[in-house]
Amino acid sequence: MKKAHALAGLVFGTTLLGAGITNAFAADETLRSLAEKNGIYVGAILNSQWFSGGLPGNYEQIHKTQFNIVVAENEMKFDATEPQEGRFNYGNGDKMVKYAQQNGMRVRGHALAWHSQVPGWVNNYRNDKQKLLKVLKNHIQNVVGHWKGKVAEWDVVNEAISNNEPMWRSQSVWYQGIGPEFIDSAFVWTHAVDPDAELCYNDYNLEQGINPKAKAGFLLEQVKRWVKNGIPIHCVGSQTHVEDTTTDKHFIGSPDSLRSLAKELAKLNVKLKITELDIGFKSGINVSKKDLERQGQTFRQYLDIILEEPNADTYLIWGVSDKWSWLGGLNRQKGLIYDDNLKPKPAFDSILVRLQTYEPPKDTAKKDTTVTDTTKKDTTVKDTTKKDTAEAIKLFANHGSLSMHLAGRTLFITGATAKATKVDIFDMQGRPVFSTLCKNGAAELDNLSEGFYVVRVKSGMSNLIQRVTIK
Ligand code: XIL
Repeated sequence: MKKAHALAGLVFGTTLLGAGITNAFAADETLRSLAEKNGIYVGAILNSQWFSGGLPGNYEQIHKTQFNIVVAENEMKFDATEPQEGRFNYGNGDKMVKYAQQNGMRVRGHALAWHSQVPGWVNNYRNDKQKLLKVLKNHIQNVVGHWKGKVAEWDVVNEAISNNEPMWRSQSVWYQGIGPEFIDSAFVWTHAVDPDAELCYNDYNLEQGINPKAKAGFLLEQVKRWVKNGIPIHCVGSQTHVEDTTTDKHFIGSPDSLRSLAKELAKLNVKLKITELDIGFKSGINVSKKDLERQGQTFRQYLDIILEEPNADTYLIWGVSDKWSWLGGLNRQKGLIYDDNLKPKPAFDSILVRLQTYEPPKDTAKKDTTVTDTTKKDTTVKDTTKKDTAEAIKLFANHGSLSMHLAGRTLFITGATAKATKVDIFDMQGRPVFSTLCKNGAAELDNLSEGFYVVRVKSGMSNLIQRVTIK
């Protein structure tokens, strides 16, 4: 995908309004449409409840309107795909792949070799290295083979590094039964089955710095070795399950540290992706509006890495609504961008606005998201979903006539369908500055001091956002 100027894709029109004729913007802007303008993927999991039809209709509507990459919360894991030895179950995964194809979304596969969510029968072989090697290879060949050409990228190995020391995680059937070479083998086997798939190592706590004692520091040494040895690794997935800084007493991670990992990976031609983002608060505490706004800023800081680092292309959130989030089990709450009622939170706004305001540096107008294959020259990843995307957005954006025009400090709005049209003003980092309602087609912005702002007009499900200069 390419990284184009944020305004380039907006539909320009001319409108006779207020004091004169001015360019006006008319487009329904979603995270998805703005992600595509910036040449990145923005996504969320499909929660497990979706697979059994247990979620309200607007969940799916939001999901396919706002996101262009999808991953299954549990349905492509080992225990879901091979619950009994040699008996594969692809029903749920197929359902998601079909949904993604119908809606022009990229599919992430998660996860092939992981210590968790491994079915009981695998553990019976924990003392039989040769058998375990066969089990893992057979699993990869079947699962990756089944979705070859449909799953664009795989978490080949998930969470293989210890959380306490710079070493491999020992509590893992694969590590105990095979040794660390299961990791190299898993990459090689996956690549052999689907040479076009992008292959990632995925883990958490990678935002804690790249010094040799930190997890990311240890990982970096392994990535160097893999690249040197021709092991086909194309990306590192940073899960980025983090806690809000004010409630996490031991907080040592930061967007800056994750950015330094991205920069080191760039030197090795390996990408960084954010694959499971959530930013929770401790369970049980009252979360104020101010807390939610600060949370929005942290979401925005992680997004900045994906927008700004040339080897970063994916921003994936581990859930849609706080109502269906795994975070309760971590003793955290409210870590996502939609609330319990599927209403967008301040974090949604700051991501939306940041995607709108971001301008790539002039000399790097394109984001190259093809894979640099470390093993073979002729295997770049093809993004087959891209061409369907515009079509899909057209289908799900449910209007097109909303437009705005600023004359002095009066904002004129046409085409609003809802009774109450809300006008929100943000600064260029997506912080809310001021909100008002539009009455009789106009809203006064008297309270603003001079400067650059982003105006969002919300009418029903539609969002129109535009940068303005207040003089
Ligand atoms: C979680 C799911 O969200 C839960 O539903 C499940 O019970 C446990 O796994 N790291 C990962 C994800 O790689 O697969 C985990 O997903 C969250 C942590």
